Amino acid sequence: MDIVHHVEDLRGARRAWQLEGCTVALVPTMGNLHEGHLSLVRHARTLVDRVVVSIFVNPLQFDRAEDLAAYPRTLAEDCRRLANEATDLVFAPSEGELYPDGREQVTRVTVPVLSDLLEGTHRPGHFAGVATVVCKLFNLVQPDVAVFGEKDFQQLLLIRRMVGDLDMPVRIEGVATVREADGLAMSSRNAYLSAGERMFAPAIYQTLSELAARLKAGERDYSALEREAEKVLEKRGLRSDYVAVRRRQDLLLPQPGDARLVILAAAWLGRARLIDNLCLDLP
Ligand code: PAJ
Repeated sequence: MDIVHHVEDLRGARRAWQLEGCTVALVPTMGNLHEGHLSLVRHARTLVDRVVVSIFVNPLQFDRAEDLAAYPRTLAEDCRRLANEATDLVFAPSEGELYPDGREQVTRVTVPVLSDLLEGTHRPGHFAGVATVVCKLFNLVQPDVAVFGEKDFQQLLLIRRMVGDLDMPVRIEGVATVREADGLAMSSRNAYLSAGERMFAPAIYQTLSELAARLKAGERDYSALEREAEKVLEKRGLRSDYVAVRRRQDLLLPQPGDARLVILAAAWLGRARLIDNLCLDLP
């Protein structure tokens, strides 16, 4: 497994693979890898000849400076795990390598509407930062396939939309959320939880599952169910940002007859902001 820090070296590797006729997958990450990330790498491995994992804590997508500063950086351990998954190349650039003229002057990729709801409301500028860095990574790695987790459902939709709208020649693959035994979605931010807080954390998935069951049973007053679920989260020790029942294809409000839904939630537990979602098909 090669570990490269410079764009020039990445481009060199990519050129060599092009000459060999190899297909390439990219798994973009911010590092501090857990089983969720590794499941994306394993999926990528089944699709192509060469797997690239990028590790870059992207300052453009952090709306709070303290979150960026605190974000766990564990490159050596990440590389050890990736070597076990038969990764071909790790691309781990410095901030200056991707943004040599600083962050202010960077051209932004924005995806209207989708960027502005749910997570976008609570994290201004976040999705422009995500779309911009993913677009840059696609231009650098030129992957045939890129793999993203359903854990960040809005992000996955945003990337699909960007790729479609801008005719980017890459196929986007989504991978199911990997969970702990008690249902908590794996996340680098779970490391911020104290042992006491960790006991409350499964409440998000539990509350989403209960809401899904009521929808399946025929209840349709979405906003009443959302408000109720938010209260349940509070009772279970979390500070809720939102619980939302939306259409799966565009995250807009479900209309009568819409059956493919997703329930999304974001909530604070101590200093960790946790997000999760659950897809469901109405009968
Ligand atoms: P990061 O949070 O490191 O996540 C990298 C990828 O792993 C994302 O596609 C995310 O959805 C996926 N992932 C995280 N937890 C998962 C879980 N429990 N199960 C399955 N997949 C999971 O998302 C980002 O980084 C960044 O925004 C990035 C796309 C790299 C752009 O900077």
